[in-house]
Amino acid sequence: MEPSVERLLNQHLAVARDWLPHQYVPWSAASDFDGPLEGSGWDPGQSALPHAVQDALVINLLTEDNLPSYHFEIASRLGRDGAWGTWVHRWTAEEDRHSSVLRAYLHARRGVDPVALEDLRMRHVGNGYRNDLPTPLHLLAYVTVQELATRQAHRNTGAACGDHVGEVLMARISADENLHMLFYRGLYEDAIRAFPDDALVALADVIRGFRMPGTEIPGFRARAARVAAAGIFNLDVHLEHVLQPLVRALGVMTTTGLGPTGREAQEHIGRQMEQLKAQASRARDIYARLNACRASGPATEEQEIPA
Ligand SMILES: [Fe+2]
Ligand SMILES: [Fe+2]
Repeated sequence: MEPSVERLLNQHLAVARDWLPHQYVPWSAASDFDGPLEGSGWDPGQSALPHAVQDALVINLLTEDNLPSYHFEIASRLGRDGAWGTWVHRWTAEEDRHSSVLRAYLHARRGVDPVALEDLRMRHVGNGYRNDLPTPLHLLAYVTVQELATRQAHRNTGAACGDHVGEVLMARISADENLHMLFYRGLYEDAIRAFPDDALVALADVIRGFRMPGTEIPGFRARAARVAAAGIFNLDVHLEHVLQPLVRALGVMTTTGLGPTGREAQEHIGRQMEQLKAQASRARDIYARLNACRASGPATEEQEIPA
């Protein structure tokens, strides 16, 4: 697939716009913290961000923090030579902006507890991340879905944050994720053309077991439930803004010339989408109950939605 990688890399470099993270941080809102600079410690009352947005930003940031592990997974699976290597390093350099600018924003705005955030980062990055995807096609299918899901998560978090600076920042990051998705999706289109059966089998496997890379964050389930109930990222979003557009754009259901395994995978993806629709509708009822319950009392760590 080297020629495809080269073509899509050139396409990416032609449209990717460089941007400067320091220009997106509200430095004038910042003040010194306690510690060597003898400023003031963080207090929950200082955050103007809605609770679900705080949860979303913590998940999004810690997910971005694990970039060294993602770099290792992708570079060791796809190689660091030729166009693949140029892409992996360029992608890593772009991704590296996301965690640094998000953390600077949260610190300047005093949006979340910086001590708890650092503790979570040490534990999460300390655990590392590995995926056990069986083939390079599975890895490509996974990153295609993941980049689109990440774009949507950042964009929706920005839209819900109630802070114009935050919204502009999250839109900027999600524009990067969109270009990453376009690279991988373009590659997957070519993969479907070159290896239609294997590519559809890998995609079906990835859709069936899909979990975002941040699910290992300590306390993820409780946070993800609040993010889902707030409509920032949930099964509806995953289905309507991630899986359905992707399956359509890749022409999965109209791919012809398949052998028995490819046809089976195609049918499986169709069934999977129907099942997800039913699950999303059940989850909607649970979110409504959770929101009603939250409206009548403060949220607790124990309030969780079953996965
Ligand atoms: Fe990112
Ligand atoms: Fe990305």
